[in-house]
Amino acid sequence: MTPSRITVLGSYNTDLVTFSPRIPQPGETILGTGFKTGPGGKGSNQAIAAARLGAAVSFIGQIGQDMFGDMALKAWQEAGIDTADVIQSAQHPTGVASIIVDEHGENIIVVASGANWAVSPADLDQAEQVIASSKVFLTQLETPLESVRRGLEIARHHGVTTILNPAPGQPLSPEILALADILTPNQTEAEIITGITGGDAGNACRALRERGARTIVMTLGSQGVLLFDEDGPRAFPAFKVPQVVDTTGAGDAFNGGLAVALAEGKPLADAIRFANATGAISVTRAGAAESMPTREEVLQLLSA
Ligand code: RIB
Repeated sequence: MTPSRITVLGSYNTDLVTFSPRIPQPGETILGTGFKTGPGGKGSNQAIAAARLGAAVSFIGQIGQDMFGDMALKAWQEAGIDTADVIQSAQHPTGVASIIVDEHGENIIVVASGANWAVSPADLDQAEQVIASSKVFLTQLETPLESVRRGLEIARHHGVTTILNPAPGQPLSPEILALADILTPNQTEAEIITGITGGDAGNACRALRERGARTIVMTLGSQGVLLFDEDGPRAFPAFKVPQVVDTTGAGDAFNGGLAVALAEGKPLADAIRFANATGAISVTRAGAAESMPTREEVLQLLSA
């Protein structure tokens, strides 16, 4: 059977990760316990997650003509991702993310966007054919909003299911929210989008729906997932894992898993369980793209 195509518009960053007993205070220097570099970027992580789960994946984005850009191309080649719509910019360096991961697996991240911020609506127009031939179009907010909007518009025009993972959070207009069939924020991102803070997850979802979002799949870390659509809220528990090593990329694993399951025609509830299992396995390993599980691993967890 030919796998269904998923097109991901998004970022690539090379992740520079320092492992540390804790996150330092402003102005403080502490000694870490280790360091590693690896492929990251929310868009690329989601694309690699989907490819490892067996989907045919096309990636739309920009990287630089440098060592980190070569790292991106190698990671995509190993994952079998179609990079015909990736531009290697001569003007901008490849994106970089400085990450600190503490001993509980929690992280802080600062991204220097570089070439990711050069992605333009024209890049999306160029990729119209591949978007139109996809079952799912998946994107995030690490490329300029006008390119995200254009990608969502093209996908919806061709009847392709759209997933917007609104990360990192930023205020979004009702027009953008309405272009996403499924919105996958965490609670903080939902609050940034609407500007309404202080309530519970249900209130945050209600506020998003009042602003034009249709189906919200809110990720709540160890609390699982809240689905909120026209039928109201529905909770999905998280899978228990033996040890949380690194939560970097857990949301990306979830989004990649969700896209794959929906592209295969699974009902949304089943797709959320599949995505939850994908995210759960990813936190048991260090790294972002490197922590994405195979399909066999996800199926094993689902049947355990
Ligand atoms: O979601 C995790 C990702 O956020 C990291 O890989 C980092 O590159 C940033 O984009």
